[in-house]
Amino acid sequence: MDHMTLVPPEKTSQTDPRFRGELSSLPNHIAIIMDGNGRWAGRRSLQRFLGHSQGAEVVQYVVETASRIELPWLTLYAFSIENRLRRPQEEVGFLMKLLHLYLVKNVKRMNDNNVRIAYIGRTHELPPDVQETMAWAADATAKNTGTTLTLALNYGSRVEILDAMRSLLRHELAAGKTAEQIADRLASEAADGHLSRQMYTAHMPDPDLLIRTSGEFRISNFLLWQIAYAEIFVTEKMWPDFTGLNLIEAIAEYQRRERRFGGLGSAPEPQPAEATPIPV
Ligand code: FPP
Repeated sequence: MDHMTLVPPEKTSQTDPRFRGELSSLPNHIAIIMDGNGRWAGRRSLQRFLGHSQGAEVVQYVVETASRIELPWLTLYAFSIENRLRRPQEEVGFLMKLLHLYLVKNVKRMNDNNVRIAYIGRTHELPPDVQETMAWAADATAKNTGTTLTLALNYGSRVEILDAMRSLLRHELAAGKTAEQIADRLASEAADGHLSRQMYTAHMPDPDLLIRTSGEFRISNFLLWQIAYAEIFVTEKMWPDFTGLNLIEAIAEYQRRERRFGGLGSAPEPQPAEATPIPV
């Protein structure tokens, strides 16, 4: 699909200021907090597990929509460190099985859609058989050049920042740097990105758009460092009800936002009031 078709042809940025149809206003990276599987199931008097199963089905539709609109980066929060530590073992085990099945079932579709699979998080703490399937899926899709689907698994943002800090310090100390030099490196982070380069996400751009389903206004320890300037879109839809069309709607809403990155943006600057002559 051509990028420009996201903007209704009769309402281009020239004719309708609500739409900003320029290619530059399309997000490069969308991150999604997939929430509400349990509530989706509860509202139907189903077990939570069935909510997760339905949630896994939906993942593939959203991934394929992302691929069709040529979104370069899609990152999904599939399993947090807190999920692993705080949910019943039975549910954690089920989510692991679901992940395994999802990968086995969808690698062919990923290849058909030119999607590459990657992961972030403390994946080495996941069950070895799941890690094997993950490595297989990553290898099997490594040559694809379309959307990179990154699954955040056993992921926690604070842990990621601490891991990055540890790795930066180890690296700098091994290179014989003094405390003063290390402090200077950190002080120049905005320009040089030394710490960013140690994050799990070092190879990707920061998310432009963060979507959360289920109507909760929380970040839940997801990409705290990387979403500094992301636009946030919260939808009432529970994850198993989220569709490719909802993804497009979120993008359309993103296109209506003005990103200022701490600057002044494009709104006309207020004209200074006419100076009152100082009486002499
Ligand atoms: C939140 O719903 C969702 C999760 C904890 C896991 C997300 C997992 C999936 C969407 C399915 C598996 C994913 C892949 C990639 C195979 P919740 O259980 O917290 O919902 P609730 O807040 O309504 O209880």
